Amino acid sequence: MLRKSLIVSLAIGAIILNSSYSIVSAADLPEVKILATGGTIAGSAPSNTQMTGYKAGALGVETLINAVPELKNIAVVSGEQISNIGSQDMTDDVWLKLAKRCNELLSDPDVKGIVITHGTDTLEETAYFLNLTVKSDKPVVLVGAMRPATAISADGPVNLLNAVKLAASPKAVGKGVLVALNDEINGARDVTKTNTSNVSTFKSPELGFLGYITDGEPYFYRETTRKHTKESEFDVDNLAKLPRVDIIYTHENDDRVLIDASVNAGAKGIIYAGSGMGSIHKDAEPGLVDAQKKGVVVVRSSRVGNGMVVANSEQYTKEHFLNGDTLNPQKARILLQLALTKTNDLNEIQRMFDEY
Ligand code: SIN
Repeated sequence: MLRKSLIVSLAIGAIILNSSYSIVSAADLPEVKILATGGTIAGSAPSNTQMTGYKAGALGVETLINAVPELKNIAVVSGEQISNIGSQDMTDDVWLKLAKRCNELLSDPDVKGIVITHGTDTLEETAYFLNLTVKSDKPVVLVGAMRPATAISADGPVNLLNAVKLAASPKAVGKGVLVALNDEINGARDVTKTNTSNVSTFKSPELGFLGYITDGEPYFYRETTRKHTKESEFDVDNLAKLPRVDIIYTHENDDRVLIDASVNAGAKGIIYAGSGMGSIHKDAEPGLVDAQKKGVVVVRSSRVGNGMVVANSEQYTKEHFLNGDTLNPQKARILLQLALTKTNDLNEIQRMFDEY
């Protein structure tokens, strides 16, 4: 509160020029929180030509904000460091902390939106987790960068500027959790990382991205038809842990060894990233049948990357395997984790896969 009134009183004298050259006072600007988790956007390399092999999550949130002074023209921004890690090391604990903090912040009427800085490797997973657990229609925007902050032509600063603009925009209200990189807006459910190094890595294959950000202005053309945020039935605010769900990725000569290991490790659910439309290798299938009989929920997904997995086989239906729809295996895993916080009923869980 003290901090807020300090900002407001400072703003009385502080008349600033915004990017379109109109005169606005800081008191008129929307308040946007930046939650930093690490990643390449906060990465530092020894030279400006080094684009790989740098340390992700080296710079703090204040450094990221100070590197983009133009942010002050579009929002009253303040930062919090949630973690400072390479996103390959993301954990359920950080997710729960993030979701709870988003829900706290967004319940403050003064906060108009949240930007989360994140490594690109697992950004799509955090975005989908928050899409299902944030209880607000205010914008939550995930942003990252493919080049470290020290690189020539680093993409982080412009991505951050665009993300804050998007989080502050009434156009982004009710659209679910968004991902903003490389001047494009993607929805959390369908977006995935498609290239290991290119700045144009985030795509929503086949289903398409939602819009552009041009000269800092968001333009939407589409929106997701699946349930999210305010409409979501999942609530993690009082949870300290998520159930274990493993992904088993099929291949030639597949068998049940990893399935049995997963069950022995205490998995409550298994996502089988099958071939084609979720096809299961004949030598792996008995492992999944036994897992299902022990109460482990089995969801068929696909390693293909595009298309649906539906109830296309009487045998799989008889074996009580569920169908992951168009979710990629890493997103199907998140939905199953959250489903298992509510129920073990297979019909109910399949309903969730049909709705989210
Ligand atoms: C990471 O995901 O933390 C490293 C890669 C990146 O941010 O681009």
